[in-house]
Amino acid sequence: MKWNLIFLDKVESTNDVAASLPRGSCVVAKEQTKARGRMGRKWISLRGNLFFSLVLKSYGAQTPMLSFVLSLSIAEVLKKFDAKIKWPNDVLIDGKKVCGILLENLGETVVAGVGINTQNAPITDVLYPTTSLNGEIENNILLQNILDAFDLNMMLFETEGFQKIKEKWLSYSKGVGKEIVICLPNEKVKGEFVGLTDEGAVQLRTNDLCCRLITAGDVFFLDERKKE
Ligand code: BTN
Repeated sequence: MKWNLIFLDKVESTNDVAASLPRGSCVVAKEQTKARGRMGRKWISLRGNLFFSLVLKSYGAQTPMLSFVLSLSIAEVLKKFDAKIKWPNDVLIDGKKVCGILLENLGETVVAGVGINTQNAPITDVLYPTTSLNGEIENNILLQNILDAFDLNMMLFETEGFQKIKEKWLSYSKGVGKEIVICLPNEKVKGEFVGLTDEGAVQLRTNDLCCRLITAGDVFFLDERKKE
């Protein structure tokens, strides 16, 4: 895809700017003053880090799969840092969050916003520790590499469906086959992370007889959980 790159200095949120632009736009900003993350959280946007939003077409019921295509592409580009994906779409290095993705469905189009801590790891009140790439990759080079990887994976998604993406995604995902805890709004569920459904839900084996499907929540790995 020929991306129309729009470079801005300071915006409230690249997702908001992207929302009124046509498909194929990629909005990049140096700073965001009101960036948001998943589940109504804030995304602290320190100058120097990479923030961008892509305007994509909607894939109807398959739209949530776009965040798997995107997190897979970012993990591939950050492979030399041994990046892993934490379901649904956080990218981790050394078990700490380096990148977050927020997909917003606008009907005809979808905005996929990406924040990567390329220079600084903000201290957040979020339950999960953060890290940065320490300036080891220049932002524009990283962005171009991600767009190239995303284009290839989107081709795979469009020709072969989610199955192939899922296989690749699982090869980068952290915690498959291990015990994890998923925090839901009113409950914590513990079990073995068996795999993903074709809708991108986690299959969590909670006991010998039961596998629960979880569609939204925060994953924690048992060895790394912060004390509550
Ligand atoms: C998360 O992990 O909670 C998702 C974070 C997504 C942050 C990015 S930064 C660029 C884009 N603009 C926003 O306001 N949010 C996304």
